[in-house]
Amino acid sequence: MGKKKKTPPDIHWLYEASVQNVDTDLDFGKRVYTKHWKRKPLTVREDFCGTAKLAARWAQRSKLHEAWGIDFHQPTLDWGVKYNVSELTDKQKKRLHLICGDVLEAKTPKVDLAFALNFSFCVFKQRDVLRRYFQRMKESLKDEGLFVMDIYGGTESVTAKSDDVREIPGFTTPEGMKIPDFEYVWEQAAYNPINHDTTCHIHFKVPGFGKIEKAFTYEWRLWTLAELQEILLEAGFSKAEVYLHDFDDEGESDEIFRLRKTYENVQGWVAYVVGIK
Ligand SMILES: C[S@@+](CC[C@H](N)C(=O)[O-])C[C@H]1O[C@@H](n2cnc3c(N)ncnc32)[C@H](O)[C@@H]1O
Repeated sequence: MGKKKKTPPDIHWLYEASVQNVDTDLDFGKRVYTKHWKRKPLTVREDFCGTAKLAARWAQRSKLHEAWGIDFHQPTLDWGVKYNVSELTDKQKKRLHLICGDVLEAKTPKVDLAFALNFSFCVFKQRDVLRRYFQRMKESLKDEGLFVMDIYGGTESVTAKSDDVREIPGFTTPEGMKIPDFEYVWEQAAYNPINHDTTCHIHFKVPGFGKIEKAFTYEWRLWTLAELQEILLEAGFSKAEVYLHDFDDEGESDEIFRLRKTYENVQGWVAYVVGIK
């Protein structure tokens, strides 16, 4: 009898551990919000929320906080309810609202601070559609409102490559599954310089479980920082800002995001782009 194949770890665990740092995102949004509006944000909206990790964390961080998360993929929301929302107390859960819907249509009460992270808005490939999304976002913000998104770029962002590998520390899931240190692989499979369309995959290599190929695939338009700032202003935001990191001695991001007007044309970066209502 052959050896029974081990069930691979759920890709949502691997994804969250590899690409999400919701406290860093929330701290950034709170800092920039407080700088602009001289008060602390209380309400947060997470568009393209997936497993709603950021929205759930916001509701958890203070009893004054309330959060909304929107995603149109019910199974991913269900996973988030099972594992992220279940971490909350009953009172915290009451201050978290998850909506299964399209971010171009869904309605929430007006919030102070909104996020669209991990480049998710790049699914909108037409300028008109992205502007419409930003207009709706602006309408969903209070008068003292702030919108935070992120985008990647740099000379290597416009090349096909599959050698972007990061070692991610292992962990144990709530069900007791021990996931050893594993590899996160970012592949840029295609990039079309004519329209900036790009196809990217996330693969994982988990010792003992092998390679999980194409765990996630994205069909995006890689928007430039210049375009995003212009379209935010066209959509009616009063100001658009770009925050970028520097690099540590190993050439990795130092994760300290500063307001920038100029930046060296380096191989790779991830920026926060902020729209101020
Ligand atoms: C890259 S994941 C982002 C997950 C998480 N928010 C993060 O920061 O890592 C993109 C998510 O956007 C959702 N999505 C894509 N287009 C959408 C749309 N038009 N409306 C709502 N959700 C959408 C997908 O279902 C998916 O869960």
